[in-house]
Amino acid sequence: MKCRICGRKAAVNMRQHKLALCRDDFLEWVPQQVERFIQKYKMFTREERVLVAVSGGKDSLGLWDILIRLGYRADGVYIGLGIDEGIAYSGKSQELCEKFSSNHGLTLHVVDIRKEYGHPVPVMSELSRRGKGKPCAVCGLVKRHVMNRAAREMGYDVLVTGHNLDDEAAVLFANTLHWEGEYLLRQGPLLPGREGLVRKVKPLCRIYEKEMAAYTLLRDIDYIYEECPFAAGSTTTYYKELLNKLENDHPGSKMTFYVKFLKSRQSGLFVEKEKIQQSLHPCPNCGQLTSTDDLCSFCRMIDKISQ
Ligand code: AMP
Ligand code: FES
Ligand code: ZN
Repeated sequence: MKCRICGRKAAVNMRQHKLALCRDDFLEWVPQQVERFIQKYKMFTREERVLVAVSGGKDSLGLWDILIRLGYRADGVYIGLGIDEGIAYSGKSQELCEKFSSNHGLTLHVVDIRKEYGHPVPVMSELSRRGKGKPCAVCGLVKRHVMNRAAREMGYDVLVTGHNLDDEAAVLFANTLHWEGEYLLRQGPLLPGREGLVRKVKPLCRIYEKEMAAYTLLRDIDYIYEECPFAAGSTTTYYKELLNKLENDHPGSKMTFYVKFLKSRQSGLFVEKEKIQQSLHPCPNCGQLTSTDDLCSFCRMIDKISQ
């Protein structure tokens, strides 16, 4: 297989995009894609101060690397959750974030939950009796709160997370399976800021997890391979596996699922019935109702075939 751009031997074959690239061209292509989505969804500008939430994983460290290469003013924040079961997960991921920031001369803020709030997340979870024995619910709550607080207190314009297409498609799948209207209205690449809440964005929302894995590997970025010890057996993991099976048989379906959702919502999938009806106009040719400003689709088709 040859690189589509330069014709040398390809290092990465992306069936989902019908695109194979060599190492060098792939390492340019990923940031170009990310830049395209930052612009498309109007996430932030080069003048703004950006705070990247880094977990030590491939997505968030890879994203920080991309933003710096693209010339954005991006600092990092790491939240020490105190998850030290088995592999000393938190300690190890903190070390990797610190290593990345010092290697690149970047600013990393560290918030230690145990020091700030008296207990690590697993203990908070037990004490608060939330989440059926697993700390994930409390962990999510803590992360959202602390990220927002850190961004606001330190005067950042926008908070960036490393959620990738696989994450977004799995959440969308769960929300659709349960017809969670409220969540479906809000899920997206950008959550605008308002009083008390900083703007939140996901520049990797259209980048596949395996593309990020290849990017961090080829960029030689050291990241934590292990998953959080509490993630095993979660429903999100199960939905990701299901979508991977689908993707394997029909490359690109994960992307279509997510991107078409965003497009359909933008063109009114969730708009109330009255508004849809109001937006219908009589076709200037036949007088029947149409949603376009001009000729209805029938008249356009007749026009076309009679040319
Ligand atoms: P997760 O919820 O673990 O899938 O992570 C999603 C995103 O949240 C990551 O890509 C990071 O941007 C952010 N994140 C997760 N864990 C941490 C952490 N301990 N500190 C800072 N950011 C985090
Ligand atoms: Fe929060 Fe696993 S419980 S990362
Ligand atoms: Zn090439």
